[in-house]
Amino acid sequence: MEILYAIPALALIAGTLFWLPRRLRRPRLATALPLTGQTFPDGFLWGTGEDAYQHEGGNEHADWYAWERSEPHPFADGSVAGRCVDFWNRYEDDFSRAAADGQNFHRIGVEWSRLEPAPGIYDDAAFAHYRLMLESLKAKGMRVAVNLWHFTLPAWAATAGAWENPQTMVRWEAYVGECGRRFGDLVDYWSTMIDAQIYVLRGYFTGEIPPLKHDPAAGVRVLGTLAHAHARAYHILKPFGGQVGMIYFFSLCQSAGNPLDAFVTDQFDRLFNWNLPDALHTGRLRVAIAGGPRLDQSLPEAAGTLDWLGVNYYYREIIRFNPRAQGLVDRGPAPGAALTDMGWEIYPEGLYRLCKALRRRYPGMPLVITENGLADRGDERRPRFILDHLAWLHRLLAEGCPLLGYSYWAGTDNLEWLDGFVPKFGLYRVDMQTMERRETASARLYRFIATNNRLPRESEVADILNPAVAG
Ligand code: BGC
Repeated sequence: MEILYAIPALALIAGTLFWLPRRLRRPRLATALPLTGQTFPDGFLWGTGEDAYQHEGGNEHADWYAWERSEPHPFADGSVAGRCVDFWNRYEDDFSRAAADGQNFHRIGVEWSRLEPAPGIYDDAAFAHYRLMLESLKAKGMRVAVNLWHFTLPAWAATAGAWENPQTMVRWEAYVGECGRRFGDLVDYWSTMIDAQIYVLRGYFTGEIPPLKHDPAAGVRVLGTLAHAHARAYHILKPFGGQVGMIYFFSLCQSAGNPLDAFVTDQFDRLFNWNLPDALHTGRLRVAIAGGPRLDQSLPEAAGTLDWLGVNYYYREIIRFNPRAQGLVDRGPAPGAALTDMGWEIYPEGLYRLCKALRRRYPGMPLVITENGLADRGDERRPRFILDHLAWLHRLLAEGCPLLGYSYWAGTDNLEWLDGFVPKFGLYRVDMQTMERRETASARLYRFIATNNRLPRESEVADILNPAVAG
């Protein structure tokens, strides 16, 4: 008789343990905060920016330049960076537009391969050109951030073994010193590098970008080398003034629900989001990938080498264990969520949750949202995307988060790495034939926000987006 009771009881327990938690933890979709005209603190930084390789054009001494011309063709749309959006020649117009749009902050990147086209040989004209750019930004009253390295290496460094060759560090230190000496008086915020973990994951784990390797153990060693490269750059740059930090891509990682999902989520979250920034905080780099490479490296020189942290936030990922998938994980948007043209989940609350996690982990660390944006060819979702992210950001400020500014990515369209020119991130759409910049409704909205240092009230939004109709 008892067995008859036991079966439904067991089923109930099993259901409670496995099915119910999954249901309950089904990811909540994005919620929007009301727009009440929220005001930002005086001096809040409003910006946009460009990346060297993704905007300038003509970077023919970079390793990517030759790789783009190889077979099979690496970019999804068959393009090459080429003249890109010709930012190298059109920077003055782009900066003037940003200034006229009320922005007081701007980030550019400098391209190592352009500045040092052969080992130890610096291109004075290229240094002078970047100086003109920086002077132009300063003349427009902007606070200026400069990034020194992002994915692309000088071809000579790549051929010689990239970051695996100790000589690269020697040349890096000299290059950083040159940048400090020649640009230091014009830079407010230095970023030593952008998205270093993505370079490692895509360059050494999945082999999608140069150096095109499938060697996670080497990748983890390179992560250690990059932590060291950041630390060296920090100490080299400090005497030239400015705040020295790093720009880093954070994704909000959320488990799909069951214990195995939770385990792989934790693994991925540590490797992707925390291992490197933690090392720059504590001076110890620990990587532990179950069944994969491990590293426990003491880097005393790296401890406390973030005066500021640039946060790139784009999406949330729901992570699920899948024994057949690469790295045993499936990552993707929550079911039913709104997506960008690239299939990334639009989850504004994630920016809030992420910054709270950063604040808990690194108390007092000044944060700048250095990138936040979406690929949206028709500019249909972008206005709400901006408004919703900024409303959550305002809540962070109200809670006392040390947040210095927000920079939309990007001012104009750009080369989206392996996705070529198909994704359109820009506030200004670029005609790829004529290079003409065309204003979107989102550009008008961002102008309103930066100029007034506040969000619009809900009742104002339609008129801002479409002034002609408002008449
Ligand atoms: C990178 C950019 C890229 C953007 C969107 C950022 O973290 O810095 O290069 O365009 O992500 O993928």
